[in-house]
Amino acid sequence: MIIAQISDTHLLANGSDADARDRRIGNFERTVAHIRGLAPQPDVVLHTGDISQNATGQEYGLAREILSGLKSPVLAIVGNRDRRAPFAAAFAGDGYLRSGAGFVQYAVALNGLRLVAADTIDEATPMGGFCDDRLAELDAMLCEAPDMPTLLFLHHPPKAIPAVPKPHQFEPDEATRLRALIGRHEQIVRVLCGHTHRADQVDVGRVPLSTVPSIATDLRKDRYPDALADTPVYQLHEVGEDGTVVSRTCTVSASREDDE
Ligand SMILES: [Fe+2]
Repeated sequence: MIIAQISDTHLLANGSDADARDRRIGNFERTVAHIRGLAPQPDVVLHTGDISQNATGQEYGLAREILSGLKSPVLAIVGNRDRRAPFAAAFAGDGYLRSGAGFVQYAVALNGLRLVAADTIDEATPMGGFCDDRLAELDAMLCEAPDMPTLLFLHHPPKAIPAVPKPHQFEPDEATRLRALIGRHEQIVRVLCGHTHRADQVDVGRVPLSTVPSIATDLRKDRYPDALADTPVYQLHEVGEDGTVVSRTCTVSASREDDE
């Protein structure tokens, strides 16, 4: 079971800063083309949020157009730059969002693995939030399949990452409750996040939590050599039948030969 994780594309549409717009569209398109060229193909592509910069229908339409270049199915979640209504309007047709649900939380079973999405946005702040309603909903989803290895994906890491310039990016009490919930559900083998725009890993109890760089290279927080300044980076996670996860970072080089 191979999962490609992309995040933080921050797409801009017409009328925006032309340089940033063109760069982010190009970063996203090249990433999709790179994933499309993988052998074997990933079973699923996760977009862990901040799909758009301004949550306009035009930006989501552009995202859909670019994602249509993938052969693999896509599961997407909301980040702090996204808004639930236009996100749902753009992605409801894919069938995994629960109709009428207020939050972008869902579970999909694929090849013996369960992929569970949590919605961590608080529209009043860029920080992560997680109210009691979402906590109860997520708890109920996880209780449905306690024995199936589960990968939880959400935009904001609910734990401080000391190396990041702003280590605490979540409302503290709500993050504590979310971490406790992760600890109670022993089937969770990994937590995948975006938001920090850089690659780090930190443990949440016994569960590793990892973040990925932003696909938008102008917003990346990692340090890269000049030659890679406009080269997007994403991650592949290979999940074994016993729930073991092996992750690797992929550089979207200009040609496949460069990957060798
Ligand atoms: Fe972001």
